[in-house]
Amino acid sequence: MCGIVGAVAQQNVTPILLEGLKRLEYRGYDSCGVALHVDGKLQRSRSTSRVADLQQQIAQTGLAGFTGIAHTRWATHGAPATHNAHPHFSRDRIALVHNGIIENHDELRAELQAAGYTFESQTDTEVIAHLVDHMYDGDLFHTVQQAVHRLTGAYAIAVFCADEPHRVVAARQGSPLIVGVGEGQNFVASDAMALAGTTDQIIYLEEGDVVDLQLQKVWIVDSNGRPAEREVRTVQAYTSAVELGPYQHYMQKEIFEQPRAIADTLEGVVRIMPELFGDKAYKVFKEVDSILILACGTSYYAGLTAKYWLESIARIPVNVEIASEYRYRDSVPNPKSLVVTISQSGETADTLAALKHARSLGMPHTLTICNVATSAMVRECELAYITRAGVEVGVASTKAFTTQLAALFLLTLALAQTRGLLTDEEEEAHLKAMRHLPAALQSVLALEPSIVAWSEAFARRENALFLGRGLHYPIALEGALKLKEITYIHAEAYAAGELKHGPLALVTDQMPVVTIAPNDALVEKLKSNMQEVRARGGQLYVFADGDSRITSAEGVHVIRMPEHYGVLSPILHVVPLQLLSYHTALARGTDVDKPRNLAKSVTVE
Ligand code: M6R
Repeated sequence: MCGIVGAVAQQNVTPILLEGLKRLEYRGYDSCGVALHVDGKLQRSRSTSRVADLQQQIAQTGLAGFTGIAHTRWATHGAPATHNAHPHFSRDRIALVHNGIIENHDELRAELQAAGYTFESQTDTEVIAHLVDHMYDGDLFHTVQQAVHRLTGAYAIAVFCADEPHRVVAARQGSPLIVGVGEGQNFVASDAMALAGTTDQIIYLEEGDVVDLQLQKVWIVDSNGRPAEREVRTVQAYTSAVELGPYQHYMQKEIFEQPRAIADTLEGVVRIMPELFGDKAYKVFKEVDSILILACGTSYYAGLTAKYWLESIARIPVNVEIASEYRYRDSVPNPKSLVVTISQSGETADTLAALKHARSLGMPHTLTICNVATSAMVRECELAYITRAGVEVGVASTKAFTTQLAALFLLTLALAQTRGLLTDEEEEAHLKAMRHLPAALQSVLALEPSIVAWSEAFARRENALFLGRGLHYPIALEGALKLKEITYIHAEAYAAGELKHGPLALVTDQMPVVTIAPNDALVEKLKSNMQEVRARGGQLYVFADGDSRITSAEGVHVIRMPEHYGVLSPILHVVPLQLLSYHTALARGTDVDKPRNLAKSVTVE
């Protein structure tokens, strides 16, 4: 989850490295650092603050060089402190940055200590720096190829040597890494966005690859040391997509982008057909008899919502599994199951590992719903639907979630059609409702002023409950996740019928209870659950459809949703919950886009 940039050029690379780090801060922001080759020596600057602080530090020292590496950290081994910040040096000869986790670091550390190396940090990364130095044979490329064979775990590394100017060597196994090809200059980075504006010629390195970057040379070998041909792709640079524009935070921008994101995701969907998911989709959809959804966090909640749609509309049994649990569980594989992964980034280590695990158990059919077309997830899956949310920068996922839901609803309809369960009239009605979503979302966004008023009360609380039923239970889960993630208020979500089985004990007049109350078949049951809360003094904050006949009263605060949206209602009902979390975070003064301890893309286990 750390971010890496490296560069070899005929000019000072510091501005390129710093710009790259700013774009990679979403991967982790506990600390950051840059190391450069300066007149045959290693020099570095590190900060436990943000990249902007590092930039100021470097402006004062004037650190500059033609070869360098840089890193933004999400701490795994060792606290966020300067001595643990990357780049790590070994004997003033080797400089190295790393993303991933080295599982055999204890054993290697003991071996290197016995060989006379002194460790300055608690990181697993410093072990690699010393290992490379220890094995150094005068040719960094050759040395790194040998050294990575000693590593167990996941890594993307970039390294340079004081004795070899104009050379950066990089390698990957289990963590993402790309090469940026320039003219007389070459780069390496955790993702292509880091190099937007510098080069759009990108090579996606494969597992086990080691690359030698020099001014006029990009040479790649695979894990067996054989020369590897890797395609150079022209990747759309999305510099403008990461500008904040008139917004105060990316999360705010991304919430308000949802009408556009949904419209883009559905663009070109004229009819429902399996081929929306890939050429082979019809054959696959005909073969499968169940669905296994694998995902993490917000994407997992999208999967939980889809289960309701897939089972009721396409009549296909669905299991939704937390990827990090599934990969280690002794499950019963069904070869006729379609494995569906859901991921905004397409790089989440747990989801990728769960996908590979499912395949290894004999489930060949895989489909991903993903926001990054060039990601490992898309490359690994047989079928895909690319959501077109655009770059999501805020750690708290918003537009990625609603576009995932739109894609999952399309999947539901395509499967229903393949199974003969979708009439032309139903198809037309669903398509019409989907096309109206952007306008419906605009009306929901207009509720912002009423939500701001509620957020002031929430900002003073340390606990909150979220209730939903049926399709909206996963939306309650997502609402609670958003609140805890960016406001640090402890929030839990329950299927409202579960309240009396335990959590009701928590309800007092100090407990805000957010209730998602669409006018669906369960609304009367939900009203009884709300009474249970009121009888214990709990304060209800209800998002009710206009026609659900829930009115404001003492201890019952109601915001009316503009329209009832039938089965697509979760896509609308999650938006006020995003806004509530956002404004509560603003009132509490937390770092909305970079909440403590988290990172955007979770590329470690
Ligand atoms: O990139 P992914 O969708 O695979 O990420 C999964 C989760 O890490 C992610 O949804 C996380 O829970 C978000 N921070 C939630 O806002």
